[in-house]
Amino acid sequence: MKRFQSIVLILLNVNFLFGLEVNHLRVESLENPIGVEYESPRFSWWLQSEELDVAQTAYEIVILVEGKKVYGTGKLASNQNHLVQTEFKAEPKTRYYWQVRVWDNNGNKAESELAFFETGLFGDWKADWISVSYPEKERSKNPVQQYRKEFLIKEKVKSARIYATSCGLYQAYLNGGKIGDQEMTPGWTSYSKRLQYQVYDVSKQFKQGQNCLAFELADGWHRGRINYRGNKVDPFKERLALLCHLEIELESGKKLLIGTDKTWECKASNIQEATIYDGEVVVFPEIMENWKLPGKLKSWQKVITLDYGYKNLIASHSVPVKVIETLKPISQIDVDENSVIFDFGQNLVGRVNIEFKVFSKKSVYIKHAEVLAKDGSFYTENLRGAKAEVQLDGFVKSYEPKFTFMGFRYALVSGVNPNEILSIKAKVIHSDMKRTGFFECGDEHVNQLYSNIIWGQKGNFLDVPTDCPQRDERMGWTGDAQVFLTTAAYNYDVAAFFRKWMADMAADQYDDGSVPWVIPNVFPWKKAPATGWADAITIIPWSLYEIYGDEQVLRESYPAMKKWIDYMMKNSKDGLWFGEKHFGDWLSYNPDDDRDGEAAVTEKDLLAQIHFIHSINLLCKAAIILHYEDDLKVYSKAYASAKASFQDEFLTKNGRLVSGTQTAYTLALAYGLTHPYQQLYSVARLAENVKDYGHISTGFLGTPHISHVLSDFNHSELAYDLLFKDKYPSWLYPVKMGATTIWERWDGIKPDSTFQKASMNSFNHYAYGAIGSWLMEHSAGIQQDYSWTLSDDEPGFNKIHLAPEIDERMGYVKAQYNSSNGPIISHWVLKDDYLNYTFSIPVNSSAVISFPEGFSFISLAGTGKGNKVPINFLIEPKEGLKLGSGTYVLELARNSND
Ligand code: BGC
Repeated sequence: MKRFQSIVLILLNVNFLFGLEVNHLRVESLENPIGVEYESPRFSWWLQSEELDVAQTAYEIVILVEGKKVYGTGKLASNQNHLVQTEFKAEPKTRYYWQVRVWDNNGNKAESELAFFETGLFGDWKADWISVSYPEKERSKNPVQQYRKEFLIKEKVKSARIYATSCGLYQAYLNGGKIGDQEMTPGWTSYSKRLQYQVYDVSKQFKQGQNCLAFELADGWHRGRINYRGNKVDPFKERLALLCHLEIELESGKKLLIGTDKTWECKASNIQEATIYDGEVVVFPEIMENWKLPGKLKSWQKVITLDYGYKNLIASHSVPVKVIETLKPISQIDVDENSVIFDFGQNLVGRVNIEFKVFSKKSVYIKHAEVLAKDGSFYTENLRGAKAEVQLDGFVKSYEPKFTFMGFRYALVSGVNPNEILSIKAKVIHSDMKRTGFFECGDEHVNQLYSNIIWGQKGNFLDVPTDCPQRDERMGWTGDAQVFLTTAAYNYDVAAFFRKWMADMAADQYDDGSVPWVIPNVFPWKKAPATGWADAITIIPWSLYEIYGDEQVLRESYPAMKKWIDYMMKNSKDGLWFGEKHFGDWLSYNPDDDRDGEAAVTEKDLLAQIHFIHSINLLCKAAIILHYEDDLKVYSKAYASAKASFQDEFLTKNGRLVSGTQTAYTLALAYGLTHPYQQLYSVARLAENVKDYGHISTGFLGTPHISHVLSDFNHSELAYDLLFKDKYPSWLYPVKMGATTIWERWDGIKPDSTFQKASMNSFNHYAYGAIGSWLMEHSAGIQQDYSWTLSDDEPGFNKIHLAPEIDERMGYVKAQYNSSNGPIISHWVLKDDYLNYTFSIPVNSSAVISFPEGFSFISLAGTGKGNKVPINFLIEPKEGLKLGSGTYVLELARNSND
C-alpha cells in the first residue's frame, strides 16, 4: 500500500477539474491482466464527463515499475482512447503499473488511477514436463493424477509467481489451499499447436518452514472423450503431463526457482474417473485430503519426465473460466425415500455442491437434467451419450466436482434419504466476460427472452464458444458462433475471448484452406467445409473489427480469411461454388405438409453461393483497411464475378429467388445481392412470405438476419409481429413453455408437452438467441453509423446511429451498451400519443438521431453541467440531429393521421 501511495504522489502534479474523469483502464481488452505476452500491449480507457459534446484532444500514458517511470508517451494530440499502441517494449516477468492523463476540447484535464499488467515468461521455462510413472489403462478412463513437491523456505517471501499448464485439466494447491480462482485450466485450445499457461501471484500463500505444492490432473479435453464419435488420435494426447515453474523472491533479495522435475512425486487419486461428458466417480472423497499438506507420505512414486517441448506454449490472453454465481434450489420433489429432485429454477452450466448432515456411507448418485418430462419424471435422454453424473462412493460429508461440468436445471440425488442432505447449491461456471449490455422493456415475455439469451451465452462461453453444454457434443461449432457473435458482443465484452478462438481457427485450418466444422478440431477425419460454418473465419474477424475497431485482429486473421476464399475459388466454376455437402439453413421450420410448395427449406447451393460472395466481400473490405492493394484488385474481381454468377443462376430479373424462402430473401437482401431495381420486389416477396406463413420459418443461417432486414426495409411492424408471436415457431413460444435458456429447435418441447427427437434436442443452444442484436439495434435503436465503413474514420462506436423503432406492444425500452468509448443509453417511453426519448452518447463519440417513423419533434434538451448547457431546441434542426457526447431528452408527438 505504501509503495502504491508513493507512486500516486509522483504522478499527481495535475489539477483535477471536475468536468472530466478517465477510468475503465484495459490492457489488450483485459482489466489488470497477469501473464501478458504481447511485446507491446495496447491500452484503452474511457472518458466520462457531465458536459456536452466532449472529445479527447490529447493523452499521455505513463508506465512504472516499482514506483519508477520506465516509459512515457509524452502528451500526444490524439482523440484515440482504445487499443492505443505505443512504442513501449515489455520485459518478461515484470509487473508494470500504468496511468493515463487526458485533455478534452473544453480545456479539462484528468488523470486515471493506477492500473497494472504483468508480463509472462516469454518462453523462459525452467521446468520439465512430468508425468506419472505408474501404468494406466489405455484409451479408457483413468483415475485423476496427483503430483506433489515439498520444499523448505527459511525466510520471508517477498513475491512469488507460479507459471503452470498441463496436458489435461489441472488444479493447483499450495499448502492445502487452491491456487487462484480459475476453473477448467489450462482451458481449451488446439493443444498441439497452442497450449495456454496461467500465471498466479502466490506471494502470500507461503509460510516459513516446509511448504507443499500440489497438483491434480484429469483427462479434460486433452485425452478424454470429446465429440460423439471418439477423439482425434494424436500422440500428443496420449499422456497427461504437468509443467510448473515457480519463482520466489525472498525479502533478502535471494531468488528460488522450483520447477517440475524428476524429484516430484505422483499417485493415483481417489477420484476414479473425471471426464467432461460423463462426470466424476469418487471413492471415499473425504480421506487423503492431507496429501496437499507438508508431511512425509507413504506410497508415492517418482514421476517421469517427458520431452514435450515448449514451442506450443502461449500465455492465456482470454478471460478465465470461474465460478461466477451460486444458485439455491427453488423447490424440491421427493421421489421416494432415497431420491429427490432439486429444481434450481434456471437452466445453467456448472456443478452441484452437496453437503450431508452426517457422513454418508453409501453410494450417492447425482444426475443432471435440463427438463422434466410431461409426467414429471427426470429426463436425460437428450444428453445422448453423456452420463453427466457424479457418483460418490462411501464416506462423504460434502463434495463439488472440479474436472467436469453439466448443463442442467434439475439435479436428481439418489442413494440417500433427502433428510440427510444439509444443503445443495448450483455453482455456475463460465468465462468471466464483463457484461456490456442491458435490455428491458414493458413486456415480461420479451424480458424473459432476453434473460434466456444471456443465460445461453453464460452456458456456452466456456473458454470456447460451444453449441451446447449438456450432451456428448459441447464443441466449438463454427456456424453457431458466427451467427451469435454480434449478440454476444452486445451482451458481454468478447474481444479477448474471440481473438483467442480465431487464433485456434487459423491454427486448425486445413492446408488447402478448408475450415473444420468445430474449433478446436476434434474430428478424427477431414470434413468437407460447410457453408455458413466455415465462413466464421471471415465473418468473425470482420465483426470484431466493426465492434471494437480492432485492426490488429483483422491483420492476424487475414491470411486465414484469404486461404478460405482461395479454397472456394479453386473449387468453383464460372464464379459458382457448387456441390459440397452443407448443413444448409440448419433446423429451419420443416412443416409436415409443405403448404402447397411453400416449403421453408432453402437450396444449399444458393446458400453456399451467398456465403461465398459475402466472404469475398469481407476479405475485400479487410484488404482496404489493411492497405493490401494487390489483393484488393484480385478479390474485387472475384467478388463481381461471383455476384454476377449468383444473379444469373438464382435470381430472376424481377427479383425472385429460386428458393422462395424467408432465409433466401433475407440473406440476399442483407448482403446486397439484388440489383436496386429488384430490391423492392425481393423485399415484398419476403414480407409476403412472412405474412403468408404468419411466422418465422428460418433456421440457423436466416434467423440472425431476418428481423434486421425487415426493419432496414421499412417493415419494422412485421419484425415486431415476429417477435411477439408466441405460437410455434417463434422466439416467445419456448418462453411460454417455461424456457429459461434458448432452445436448439423452435419446438424442443412440442405444444402437447412431448419432446422433439432426443438425438438433437438441446435446451441450451444460443444460435436462435441471435435476435438479441435486433433488440439492441432496432428496438432500442443503438447502432453504429456505418457510413464510416470504408472511409478513414475508425469503427468501434465512434459514430453512433440512434434509431429506435417504436411499437406500442413494447410500452417502453431501456437499453445500455458499454461500447469501447463508454456507455450508450437508449430509453424510450410511449405514453398515449407522446414519446419521451432519453439517450446518452459517450465522450469521444457522436451520434445521428433518427426520429421514429410517425412521430414529430416537440423539443430536445441536453442535460448536464458546463458552458454548453442547457441545450434547448424547440424547433427541429433543419439539418437533422447530430450530437456530441452527453445525455439528452427528446420529446416527440405521434402524427395525428397515424
Ligand atoms: C450442433 C450444431 C451444429 C450442427 C451442425 C450439431 O450437432 O449441435 O449446433 O452447428 O451440428 O449442423
